[in-house]
Amino acid sequence: MVVDNFSNSKPAALRRVKQICGKDFVFYENDVRDREAMKKIFAENRIDAVIHFAGLKAVGESVRKPLLYYSHNLCATFNLCEAMIEAGVRIMVFSSSATVYGNSDRVPIREDFRIGPTSNPYGETKLMQERILSDMVAAGELRTAVMLRYFNPIGAHESGLIGEDPNGIPNNLLPYISQVSIGKLPYLSVFGNDYDTHDGTGVRDYIHVVDLARAHVCALRHAVGSEGAQYYNIGTGIGYSVLDIIGAYEKATGRKVPYRISPRRPGDVAVSYSDPSLAASVLGWKAQFGIERMCRDADRWQTMNPDGYPDE
Ligand code: UD1
Repeated sequence: MVVDNFSNSKPAALRRVKQICGKDFVFYENDVRDREAMKKIFAENRIDAVIHFAGLKAVGESVRKPLLYYSHNLCATFNLCEAMIEAGVRIMVFSSSATVYGNSDRVPIREDFRIGPTSNPYGETKLMQERILSDMVAAGELRTAVMLRYFNPIGAHESGLIGEDPNGIPNNLLPYISQVSIGKLPYLSVFGNDYDTHDGTGVRDYIHVVDLARAHVCALRHAVGSEGAQYYNIGTGIGYSVLDIIGAYEKATGRKVPYRISPRRPGDVAVSYSDPSLAASVLGWKAQFGIERMCRDADRWQTMNPDGYPDE
């Protein structure tokens, strides 16, 4: 069963998910912040566990509109959790982020590293939601909360049917590169080439979105048979710079990605990549796809859907 208010998606995305899985599922068009709607959904269905993805996720927007972010992301979690408690549903897998580590001074980042201070309101909402869920577990209101700390998800499903459809000009690197590559945008601005990295540009741990999806399946299976608040890094453990990614994209597509060096983007860290070994040993999950595959799949989605999902 799926709940979405289509604030950052479209019905076509769900139809295509059904097409790929060959399965139908119950769908509710609701905002997770709507308490009465949540209660009704839990009353009408037999639900064993919840994967909680709902929330706003644009870092820059969260700096400009902090109240919007705190209000949206926290209210979604409050109302969802209340409905879960009322219905006796006690297992949750939560969509967290590597942003909870803030500016880590060591890499690879392990789950037991210090969390916070975060660099923006979006990141703070992820940290606060982790805390809310772990307090609920400590109090017995939830039995299991599995926080998946995503590094940088990119790519698309190999069918080219589902992928990232950003509203307006993309903020993140990969959708931006994809649009430059097909000529929709003229060039990429590389935010800083004076970081302390192998080529001066920022290093991140990019993870194929299908690997990320598989991590949720493993996490759910594990959550059903375990207890407690648990935290897992979801990344490949490999760091690539912005220039590495441009090179990989050009190689995967055979097309040039024009770029210009620009000033650093405020709030960016130099290097962030995971140690994903805990997810491997406990969840039995490991990323399978490398950077070439991530770029190839991103490009297939972009070329098949240059304007994103259709509106109907
Ligand atoms: C950010 C968030 C992360 C969130 C992710 C996806 C923080 C600190 N990071 O990650 O939590 O999950 O977005 O929404 O909150 N870059 C360019 N030019 C561009 C765009 C990006 O050079 O036009 C560079 C950036 O400087 C960075 C790298 O590419 O070095 C990746 O940037 P981006 O895709 O925006 O992700 P993050 O900032 O790492």
